[in-house]
Amino acid sequence: MRKKIVAGNWKMNMDVQGTENLLNALKSESLAADVTVMVAPTFVNLSAAKQQLSETEVEVIAQNMHFAESGAYTGEISAAMLQAIGIKTVILGHSERRSYFGETDEILEKKVSQAIDKGLQVMFCFGEELADRKSGAHFNVVASQLKNALFALPKTAWSQIILAYEPVWAIGTGETASAEQAQDMHAFIRKTISEAYDATTAEQLSILYGGSVKPGNAQEIFSKPDVDGGLIGGAALVASDFAAIVNAFN
Ligand code: 13P
Repeated sequence: MRKKIVAGNWKMNMDVQGTENLLNALKSESLAADVTVMVAPTFVNLSAAKQQLSETEVEVIAQNMHFAESGAYTGEISAAMLQAIGIKTVILGHSERRSYFGETDEILEKKVSQAIDKGLQVMFCFGEELADRKSGAHFNVVASQLKNALFALPKTAWSQIILAYEPVWAIGTGETASAEQAQDMHAFIRKTISEAYDATTAEQLSILYGGSVKPGNAQEIFSKPDVDGGLIGGAALVASDFAAIVNAFN
């Protein structure tokens, strides 16, 4: 059985007080026990969030990390620093990192490889832009993002990978991929992994959908056979909405 996962990517939102308030609100919600729930506050609030959630099943994850061990990389955070505060999972490859901070497939390959080597679980994000979808290039774009950043990994590394397909045109826009578009892409992704590795690796892999997931559309999207959960932006900042999404599996 593949893991069902709902993760909240808080992006650059919530200061220390906002983080505490949102986590308190989340702790008062009841969350489906068979769903792995994750939240990704900003770096400065990771430690406090870990403490606040220590008696819950909710996992605190990081939004990014650097590929180097340590050294002269002003403003960056290493895998070891995350691990030292008990973080086990890191989001890599988010489209905002790619478009605003110049993260290329080549950089992401290094980041993924460092995270895996250090024993972190990687939630790897990727997805096409609107122009790719309009020109019909979306499957090719996604295949090359996966190949360039991930396919040098050994098969054993895939137990540490979660994929998050996030079409850029659906992020923060209120426009969601239809459940059918999500399913078509997720099935394609699983087939691509199966061809590059093997069927078992592909079958065991959790593939999340991200992009304007809300309480009102989560159930339909999550009902699709190759959609194993969601990576949630805006709706993760409202505890009741996030809880409703966590509880939206049939
Ligand atoms: P929204 O849910 O706000 O569209 O953001 C999706 C996202 O980018 C999650 O990483």
